Amino acid sequence: MDTRIAFTTVPATAAESVQRSRSVDRVVRGIATSDGAGVKLTRVLTQNLQRRLDPFLMLDAFGTDSKDDYVGGFPDHPHRGFETITYMLAGRMRHRDSAGNEGLLQNGGAQWMVAGAGVVHSEMPEQEDGRMEGFQLWLNLPAADKMTAPWYRDMPSAEIPTVALGDDGSGGTVRVLAGASHGVAGAVTRPVTEPLYLDVHLPAGQAFTQALPAGHNAFVYVYQGEVSIGDGDDSAVVEAQRMGVLDNAGTADGVVVRADADARFLLIAGKPLNEPIAQYGPFVMNTQEQIYQTLADFRDGRFATIAAGSGA
Ligand code: FE2
Repeated sequence: MDTRIAFTTVPATAAESVQRSRSVDRVVRGIATSDGAGVKLTRVLTQNLQRRLDPFLMLDAFGTDSKDDYVGGFPDHPHRGFETITYMLAGRMRHRDSAGNEGLLQNGGAQWMVAGAGVVHSEMPEQEDGRMEGFQLWLNLPAADKMTAPWYRDMPSAEIPTVALGDDGSGGTVRVLAGASHGVAGAVTRPVTEPLYLDVHLPAGQAFTQALPAGHNAFVYVYQGEVSIGDGDDSAVVEAQRMGVLDNAGTADGVVVRADADARFLLIAGKPLNEPIAQYGPFVMNTQEQIYQTLADFRDGRFATIAAGSGA
């Protein structure tokens, strides 16, 4: 199976100007766990970081050549109150949900789902051997939008803008899943939390610059190679399979990431909601009372009707 991501690049239409880079506040090693029907994964952004990295609730990384690690997939399960963004580097996964959506997620493609008032879905592998690699990010919804109607979009690899960096295109590439980079708008723009979701591929020795709004929480997850983040003496090394949480110092206007070796990393940022977080497994609301209501709604089979608009 060909596991290379297929994409064509577009030129940058603007430079990212950064006077002072954020530095690395802390380096986080993920926790090995499993979810769904025994899918092995690394939980990079864990529950204890939800406040620090508000509006992001979770980041899982999965990457394996062994079918036993993924073949069980994620059978029917519910979500309410947030958004899930699944980005596949390699492999094929079939999505089906209670809103009637179905899609095939594969090499280099992504899926953006707003669970809103309630979705029951399955995410099942469509392969029985070969590599499965990718990420799932959970993005919180503002209190006012938690009971919004579900929304879903498949983004095949060709629909994710990919920007060639450097004057002659030799400076690497940035795939813009959400937000904007180097003058190029991403595949998705979301209000309120204004998420930035970039997948950056940098040859050794190259640097990547990205402006970031002050106050937005941001992190870098390195999935291949090694990078240094920050200015000069303040720079810190982040190795593969590590997340660097970026500081929120008021004087920084972005981030500079240098590839110490050929590197691939996610750069994710968003505007914090600063609202209470009440999570019970796949449900993320603001209060315990809302969680109890959610459990009752799910138990009594009310997700589909509420999601259709009667309870929003
Ligand atoms: Fe799910």
